[in-house]
Amino acid sequence: SSRSFSNLSPESNRSSYGIAFDIDGVILLGSSPVGGSPAALRRLYDDSGALKIPFLFLTNGGGLPESARASEMSHLLGLDVSPLQMIQAHSPFRKLVNRFGNELVVAAGKGEPAVVMSNYGFKNVISMDEYASCFDHIDPLAPYKKWMIGEDGHKEPRSRENVLSQRVHAAFIVSDPVDWSRDIQVLCDILRTGGLPGKEIGPQPHLYFANDDLDYQTPFPTERLGMGAFRIALESIFNRVHDVPLEYTSFGKPNPSVFKNAEDVLKEIASSTNSHSKSGSHHFRTLYMIGDNPKIDIRGARQAGNPWFSILTRTGVFKGKNNHAEFPADLVVDTVEEAVDFILTRES
Ligand code: G3P
Ligand code: MG
Repeated sequence: SSRSFSNLSPESNRSSYGIAFDIDGVILLGSSPVGGSPAALRRLYDDSGALKIPFLFLTNGGGLPESARASEMSHLLGLDVSPLQMIQAHSPFRKLVNRFGNELVVAAGKGEPAVVMSNYGFKNVISMDEYASCFDHIDPLAPYKKWMIGEDGHKEPRSRENVLSQRVHAAFIVSDPVDWSRDIQVLCDILRTGGLPGKEIGPQPHLYFANDDLDYQTPFPTERLGMGAFRIALESIFNRVHDVPLEYTSFGKPNPSVFKNAEDVLKEIASSTNSHSKSGSHHFRTLYMIGDNPKIDIRGARQAGNPWFSILTRTGVFKGKNNHAEFPADLVVDTVEEAVDFILTRES
């Protein structure tokens, strides 16, 4: 692997366990730490600040490249988080890069979705913001969107003609869409026309969602609508305006491949200081998943099976007194701090 992990204590490649932390509702609410997360995570490093216990973040969130998100997490938590420890919902999109070559793909969502995709190697990617701005009158509500007025657009705008003449081969919903009305409108245009809004030329281009979370937890008392809610809105409308039902693929937890990949990355983290051990040869007896959403985090860990052990916190989507009825966790605790305490005691 070309990825390196510089700050790892020798203890970490002897560890027989690893930990995957969900972010929203476990580590953070919005951009504030929750459940004593900075103190809990600090226990996984030694006194010199080197990583003692292999851990990573396994989030269905996204919108920034893994390196930028790792820096943001380091800053918010006062710890040294490596990009290798940051698995976001859109991270598997990098495996689709060869499917599209030089073909135009549109990247939607909050943050910097096109930068995320370019970093994965996509050669011809445009953000939904920039794509929509190439078409006059595509969003009839744009003049009423006061937050758009005065926006100075993009640093290096592409030639409009160049964009308008190219067929869109895929749309990637990288992170939670910001302007649902425009994005639903423009996605319907792209998807029902075969990739040339305003024309009618062919079958539906590919559509990929980074996750299918109906909701997630922020500092607001009740859950907020997530990408899965956006998917339902888009799908319901598309299926009314078009006679062939919407086709799409969703990534993220609870898909088993996400947990398999997390296991591989944890092995890589555990073996990366030991030049003699081949990456992936490390053996974990237990992998802990600490999450707040029974349907997503706990269901995923349960489906993944051995060696996953699921821990459900009460700082996010789940607020129940007892275990969740349909997707019970191996352990329910109040906070991530309690979860880490349990793990360190059990493993000592
Ligand atoms: O938008 C983020 C949300 O859908 C879930 O994030 O960290 O709880 O998996 P997380
Ligand atoms: Mg969560």
